[in-house]
Amino acid sequence: MADLLVTIDGPAASGKSTVARALAERLGASFLDTGAMYRAVTLAAMQARVDMADENKLLDLTEESEFSFSVREGKMAACIDGVDVTERIREPHVTANARYVASSAKVREKLVEMQRQFAAGQERIVTEGRDQGTVVFPEADVKFYLTAGALERARRRQAELRANGTGGSLEQIQKAIEDRDKSDESRAVGPLKPADDAIVLDTTDLSVDEVVAKALRYVEEKCLEKD
Ligand code: C5P
Repeated sequence: MADLLVTIDGPAASGKSTVARALAERLGASFLDTGAMYRAVTLAAMQARVDMADENKLLDLTEESEFSFSVREGKMAACIDGVDVTERIREPHVTANARYVASSAKVREKLVEMQRQFAAGQERIVTEGRDQGTVVFPEADVKFYLTAGALERARRRQAELRANGTGGSLEQIQKAIEDRDKSDESRAVGPLKPADDAIVLDTTDLSVDEVVAKALRYVEEKCLEKD
């Protein structure tokens, strides 16, 4: 296991990736965005026209495809069979279909194994997703659960989408976020919930810098305890 393992879980658009990346940079740690993995499998399934309800086909596809992930310009870049899909995995139709892949126990098991392998090769790592502190790394040194009001999360997602030249009304975006939360919280495997020992940070009224500074203080406190 890495010398320092920090997990960040939380609902859609709560700022996990932004905070995880910044925290990783401050700690000289690697960064893993596990949502990119669920998104890449979803896109691969859409491209291969696999029936999303057929778990065995989804698993076969996950095992047969070659996925690679790396950090590029501060975000998780993804390739499927050598083709760069970094932008495509973030398109709204991929986001909407990710729930099928995310609720497959067999695919989750495979992706969890890949996440643990990735972490085992790092000295320090900040990893973010929905189940990182609860299922994947229950022994993590510090666990955060980031949350923010649905309207604020919709505003943040709208700004992000606009920066990429896409968009939608605030109401539509908020509804899509709330639907995704419901699906993430209610699935039988790896549901979204805070780990019992997670530090819950409500970021509704905080800037990214404030959240990162708070998180960094907790990590420093915990690590001093450990030494
Ligand atoms: O974090 P992001 O929005 O990129 O995640 C996309 C989807 O992947 C989520 O809505 C969730 O269903 C799934 N996911 C998951 N477990 C993770 C990370 C993401 O189920 N650890």
